[in-house]
Amino acid sequence: MIEIYKVQTIDGHRIDCTIPSEENVSIDAKELMLFPALIDPHVHFRTPGAEYKEDWKSAAKAAIAGGVTTVLDMPNNTPAASTALALQAKEERVKDQLNAARIPLRYGFYLGADRRHLQEIPKLKESVVGLKIYMGSSTGDLLIDDAGSLKDAFQIAAENDLLVAVHAEDEGLIKERSKHFLDRKDPAVHSEIRSPKVAALAVEHAIRLAEETKARLYIAHVSTKEELALIRSAKKRGLRIYAETTPHHLFLDDSAYAKLGTLALVNPPLRSKQEREAVWEAIHDETIDTIGTDHAPHTLEEKQKPYGSAPSGFPSIEFYFALLLNAHAEKKLSLEQIVSLTHTRPQEIFRLPIDDDIVLVDLSEKRTLGNSMIRSKAGWSPYLGMALQGWPRYTVCKGRLFDLHHIA
Ligand code: DOR
Ligand code: ZN
Repeated sequence: MIEIYKVQTIDGHRIDCTIPSEENVSIDAKELMLFPALIDPHVHFRTPGAEYKEDWKSAAKAAIAGGVTTVLDMPNNTPAASTALALQAKEERVKDQLNAARIPLRYGFYLGADRRHLQEIPKLKESVVGLKIYMGSSTGDLLIDDAGSLKDAFQIAAENDLLVAVHAEDEGLIKERSKHFLDRKDPAVHSEIRSPKVAALAVEHAIRLAEETKARLYIAHVSTKEELALIRSAKKRGLRIYAETTPHHLFLDDSAYAKLGTLALVNPPLRSKQEREAVWEAIHDETIDTIGTDHAPHTLEEKQKPYGSAPSGFPSIEFYFALLLNAHAEKKLSLEQIVSLTHTRPQEIFRLPIDDDIVLVDLSEKRTLGNSMIRSKAGWSPYLGMALQGWPRYTVCKGRLFDLHHIA
């Protein structure tokens, strides 16, 4: 049994609580606050095919360190998780790696939409959390960029009551815009090529398809004012449409290219300060339902390649809770909003079973994010050097207690 004494709840009470466990421990939690453990609905943990960037052993440690006990993993692996066979092979490797880490992380997988395998959807609908459709190309080779196959994918998902999750960037417009910037080699051009219009065009298309087919639609990493206007209006029309944003679209903007160079590359890209402000507004008016880290580890060596060869994506699962808690310390976000974005809404949207995993947080702890705190194999973070107030202190996952000051 894990016994927790005098912990504060986010609504201002003090309680004792016990969690069934094989361990017998008691924690004096007078200085700590109780949160439900985080659910990260958007990660790229790299198994199979790119385990040198991350595997589920390193990723699980990073997740637990960040207060996360449930992750939903994207299908852009090698091979892509777009068939029953690929999903089964992926799950075997994932289980082995979690066993090796001795961390009972909870997980779900997305099925990757591949126009050659859409007929597998009916038999897989119970084993996956959603159908991930790449409307624009990113890491890996998953892409559906013709209107006919896109409609088919939405239609089949809707018929099987499977949530459609989209990477909404319009591939046609990305290709078209790339032609106008051939002479630019600086990484900031990435945000110009993959402009706000690129995202809005794809979001508009996805919403239209959701309306026509009645599919439930999850729009990943929303980062612009125009996408948010489309989503707001779709929600008002009563459509079952959900919006996710990322830590990097809340805490970074395109001024980061000056400091980080190619390290700042991500899809969809970092945006202007005005777009970032619009994302914050949408957190406050609840147009945004969830925060997904889009934890997309690449090695520093890969990220430091010149523009054109450097891959897109940031590791972030270990630190986004601290970023959010720090935003709370700065009065930008309430504790209730943090719980809704990182736990309640993901649990509802993905219809996840309720569990008793928790995180105990020290709201007053101040730490500067340093290299030695990084557990992801990526070994770097775009947030290095940031001084943050509010850190997770203990995570409990399936009755196992992790002391985050002493996690291996
Ligand atoms: O920046 C990104 N990196 N965006 C994606 O859509 C994929 C991700 C990755 O897997 O590297
Ligand atoms: Zn992603």
